[in-house]
Amino acid sequence: MSRFIPISQPSITQKEIDYVTDAIKSGWVSSLGKYIDKFENQFAAFCGVKHAVSTANGTVAIHLALVALGIKEGDEVIVPDFSFIATANAVKHAGATPVFADIDPYNLCINVETIRKKITPKTKAIMPVHIYGHPADMPAINALAKEHNLLVIEDAAEAHGSSINGQKTGSWGICGTFSFYGNKNITSGEGGMITTNSDELNQHLRFLRDHAMSKNKRYWHTEIGYNYRMTNLQAALGVAQLERASELIAKRKTIYSWYKKYLQNFDGVTLNKTYNWADNTFWLICAELHNYNEEKRNVFMAKMKEAGIDTRPFFYPMSMMPMYEKADNPITYSVYEKGINLPTYFDLTEEDVKYICEKIKELL
Ligand SMILES: Cc1ncc(COP(=O)(O)O)c(C=O)c1O
Repeated sequence: MSRFIPISQPSITQKEIDYVTDAIKSGWVSSLGKYIDKFENQFAAFCGVKHAVSTANGTVAIHLALVALGIKEGDEVIVPDFSFIATANAVKHAGATPVFADIDPYNLCINVETIRKKITPKTKAIMPVHIYGHPADMPAINALAKEHNLLVIEDAAEAHGSSINGQKTGSWGICGTFSFYGNKNITSGEGGMITTNSDELNQHLRFLRDHAMSKNKRYWHTEIGYNYRMTNLQAALGVAQLERASELIAKRKTIYSWYKKYLQNFDGVTLNKTYNWADNTFWLICAELHNYNEEKRNVFMAKMKEAGIDTRPFFYPMSMMPMYEKADNPITYSVYEKGINLPTYFDLTEEDVKYICEKIKELL
């Protein structure tokens, strides 16, 4: 049978199996247990922040953060138009309105000047996304937020370990949110985390995550809370992955260097570009196909699949979806249809990447 190269797969070693087995044998299968505390403490240290609060997934991490910060109906939150839909939906779940800003064509992250244009008296927060592993321009975003007295919440779902001047994503805003879905730099199966330096926010997040139950009076609830807890089984997998974070992330950078090497003399595609101020962890390798539109791109992706190589399209502009209002964001609307992601995962070999690049050159 001919080989098939998926877009993504997790790297599961004996360590992951041992920790999850230990968790299940311990009987602590729900949201109490030693791995929860370990995962939260170790992830806080990894990001260089005081607190990390685990959640069931990355979407509810954003929702919980917004609610805990008091974002509500009538408020506006500025988000990049180019992201996974959960970024905007979580704002809606909080009752607020996502306002879509355009992106920088170089790193595909939110463009600071377009944020400025979208600020209104209703704006309460900016939520940059560190897309595909490249950090957004946090110093500039924080400066703008300070000028207008806005909160900054980083959607760092795709950028575990990325940094700017050595300072990690998730430590720049009032809080950062992460996803540990199976295809991420670090996985816990499903899972999420909120990172913060604020003691008060940490307490409030923990309270709301657990049905807003009073600390001093069990089964007494003073607000409408949520069950957004992570399980000890998820956390066991997460701890094993976090202990391997250096090798997992280093491999993604190596994979990028291989794609660069085998596509360097080919002018049909542009790969991820990284600003010199950024440390990019390359959650997914990006390829923009020159002079392609959505239809041509989809034909190309189908041919790649026939050759045994899985790819995935870039995100559509979120404002293009039927439940949102179309926004005038020319960069987002011109980039999305040319873009695909190429296989990016730990067990990928240089031989695989060479084969993928040969097929790209042949089929484009
Ligand atoms: C930018 C971004 N935000 C939020 C999420 C939501 O995370 P989850 O899938 O864990 O709910 C994702 C998803 O994977 C994402 O890519």
